[in-house]
Amino acid sequence: MFLAILPVTRLPFPAAWLVRLLLSLWLFLPFPIHADGEVLAPGYQSLSFTAPEPGTYSLPDIGIAADGSVLDAQARDVSLSSLMAGKVSVLSFIYATCSDINGCPLATAVLHQVKSRLRKEPELAGQLRLLTLSFNPEHDTPEQMRLYGQNFQGGGVDWQFLTTRSEQHIHPIVEHYQQAIAKKFDDQGRFTGTFAHNLRVYLIDKHQHIRNIYSTGFLHADTLVSDIKTLLLEDGKPFAGAAKPDSTFDLLSTVINPPLGLPPLPVPENNPVTKEKVSLGRKLFYDRRLSLNGTMSCAMCHIPDQGFTSHELATAVGVEGRTVRRNSPALFNVGYFPLLVSRWAGVNLRATNLGAVAGA
Ligand code: HEC
Repeated sequence: MFLAILPVTRLPFPAAWLVRLLLSLWLFLPFPIHADGEVLAPGYQSLSFTAPEPGTYSLPDIGIAADGSVLDAQARDVSLSSLMAGKVSVLSFIYATCSDINGCPLATAVLHQVKSRLRKEPELAGQLRLLTLSFNPEHDTPEQMRLYGQNFQGGGVDWQFLTTRSEQHIHPIVEHYQQAIAKKFDDQGRFTGTFAHNLRVYLIDKHQHIRNIYSTGFLHADTLVSDIKTLLLEDGKPFAGAAKPDSTFDLLSTVINPPLGLPPLPVPENNPVTKEKVSLGRKLFYDRRLSLNGTMSCAMCHIPDQGFTSHELATAVGVEGRTVRRNSPALFNVGYFPLLVSRWAGVNLRATNLGAVAGA
């Protein structure tokens, strides 16, 4: 289905017609399977749930979107940050000859869908910039990128197809974005022109902070459009993220006087709940350093504003877009769970932290 992003309009008439027919038939298949038997990523299908209403949720601040020196399709030197300035940007790394159906073509296809969706909303479209950056500058010259991108131009959304002067220029950029890529070599050690890479698409806000990273299983136009609109709605407001709520609930008093007729909380005798432990637990709940690569906090899956679960996902998505089989459950009353409280009573610090969090 690489055809989905080929310049269909430039094919001779019967071929273009056939491609369109095949594409429309393919869209109605219940389980889209690629000719090689490879299952197509969700981005090629309808979303199995309704994307959340923009502005009803917040996107965490994942970190600064790095700058870098790139070349636009007219071979002009530009900085990534000047392209991102003042706009919400969606950045994807590709190489023009990539045929991994769930890789670069998916990124381009989904960006194309996003662009088409925003066609009817010009005031939003003008605030968005799509950036497709090649990590294969040897082959993908500005002219190649211009050809690659020429069928995606117009329609109100600015879409830049970029490359770099050399591998030395792209290297620090992909490094910063942790976009792992590796050239593939044949038995004789010759570069095959293909790369091993994982698809990653970055949503970047107007202040040049990364606010979402989509991998193959998670990249879909519906959610991307909702996320873009959510960022645009955020204007003027401080980063919402999974930030601490302004008014902090007095957890300690609920431990001392459980509300709603709940029984007393099982607090281990050797580990009493104190104000300090509650505030440490709260701090840790929002601390991304607790995750494998320092990007995710508890609050990003167990979102306080959403009842400590995540309304916008069917299953939780962890570091690097890895999905697990269940969604994050709400964390109500977990302070009563024996496994989390009494069984850990001997493990002082950990029991303390979790006890305080669980008390949430
Ligand atoms: C990637 C998303 C994610 C992150 C980050 C995360 N959780 Fe969870 N959490 C889950 C999922 C999914 C489950 C359900 C696991 C299962 O039952 O298979 C869960 C289960 C739990 C439960 C059990 C709730 C119950 O009703 O059984 C607790 C308590 C909990 N998480 C606390 C935390 C704390 C504390 C942190 C931070 C240190 C954290 N979680 C970080 C997704 C996440």
